Amino acid sequence: MAKKKTKASAKKVVSKKATAPKKTSVKPAKIGHNSTSKTKELLELGRKYYTHAYKPREMILDRGKGAMVWDLDGNDYVDLGAGIAVSALGHHNDELLDALKNQAKKLWHTSNIFFTEPPVRLAEELVKSSKFAKRVFFTNSGGEANEAAIKIARKYAADKGRPPESRNIITFTGSFHGRTMATVTATAQPKYQHGFEPLPGGFRYCQFNDFEAIANMIDENTCAVMSEVVQGEGGITPVKPGFLKHVQDLCHKQDALLMLDQVQCGMMRTGKLFSHFAEPGVKPDIVTIAKALGGGIPIGAMLVGEKAENTFQYGSHGSTFGGNPLACSVARVVLKKIQSVEINTNVRERGKQLIAALKLINKQHGMFSEIRGRGLMIGAELKPQWHNKAGDISEIGRKNGVLLLQAGPNVLRFVPSLTITEKEMKEGIARLHKAIKVFLSQ
Ligand SMILES: Cc1ncc(COP(=O)(O)O)c(C=O)c1O
Repeated sequence: MAKKKTKASAKKVVSKKATAPKKTSVKPAKIGHNSTSKTKELLELGRKYYTHAYKPREMILDRGKGAMVWDLDGNDYVDLGAGIAVSALGHHNDELLDALKNQAKKLWHTSNIFFTEPPVRLAEELVKSSKFAKRVFFTNSGGEANEAAIKIARKYAADKGRPPESRNIITFTGSFHGRTMATVTATAQPKYQHGFEPLPGGFRYCQFNDFEAIANMIDENTCAVMSEVVQGEGGITPVKPGFLKHVQDLCHKQDALLMLDQVQCGMMRTGKLFSHFAEPGVKPDIVTIAKALGGGIPIGAMLVGEKAENTFQYGSHGSTFGGNPLACSVARVVLKKIQSVEINTNVRERGKQLIAALKLINKQHGMFSEIRGRGLMIGAELKPQWHNKAGDISEIGRKNGVLLLQAGPNVLRFVPSLTITEKEMKEGIARLHKAIKVFLSQ
């Protein structure tokens, strides 16, 4: 990644063309002399006081509207990453702001020792819209939702009298389930596990989308299989048609739970409220969600079907903040809005627009070996000669006014807000195209 030119290049990014469309327009900030030194100061503080777990880009994001964000220096960016598939309704959504303000004036936090209205209502709404769940456990994040899933699977088997060695959980190569010790162990990618050994036991890894391998691996010692429907971090890889149904049939034979991690691919990201709705005959036992559910407020949830609905009993599990009334008030609005015809149509249309544009870029530059995904969860895999360059392209993208994500070192990942407008998408793609030309000219 080119680092040194950051500030000078960032200034050039300010684009008159790129003002957000009317519906979501915010006046770009003027570039002030003070803001530059403030940016510098904050970058230095961040470098000094953060652990090195992340390598944030060299700018300070300050505000947003729709699919646009602005940094402290007034540069604007088309956000094609939405905070890693989170800001489903875009930045600074008025309805979410109202929900947050209204609840903030009433009650912020009680813990789960008490009922409050927002989580109770949200639980009902999630159960009804899921078409399979009976109960919900609220968390603060996707990793925490998956921890709950792992624990419930183990206890489900324990309650059936199975000893610990018969409580294995199978996950798939290329998966990503979180960064806690159990979820990083569930994540069948050694790069996330390296250095954190000893890892918790009881996980088995199977080749993703391999019908035969999973049939050979599931046995009487399996208590659950956990899978994404579209793998996110692993490279935007959807399940093959019929794969989850096949896994489900195998699970049924062993009384193992089918657990679908929809932290990234759920909540209308793929064009369906729950991404397994596109998989005929699939009725999971557990689904985990987070990210888009809060539209930017931290919240996650584990949805539990009939089989394990009574597995957690008083004292089995807990979370101080999970199901916080502030977060749930916002999530209720998100859940309602993302089920609207308008958003559903937008996901489909913008997804098509993005794929068509990526194909056009590819026709010109021949960089991608595959463009794949569903709805607004799209990946463009780089050809072998550009392997390990997704990060460099993202950084050049930033300098050209577009925020991009990667999914591993070889895939550009596009997970913009579900409300991104045609105009915002067009501008984002134009900036991406420019970035690609810069990258290729280097
Ligand atoms: C599929 C999937 N599961 C779990 C997680 C972990 O979620 P969180 O970062 O909220 O803990 C992620 C995060 O990227 C994810 O993509």
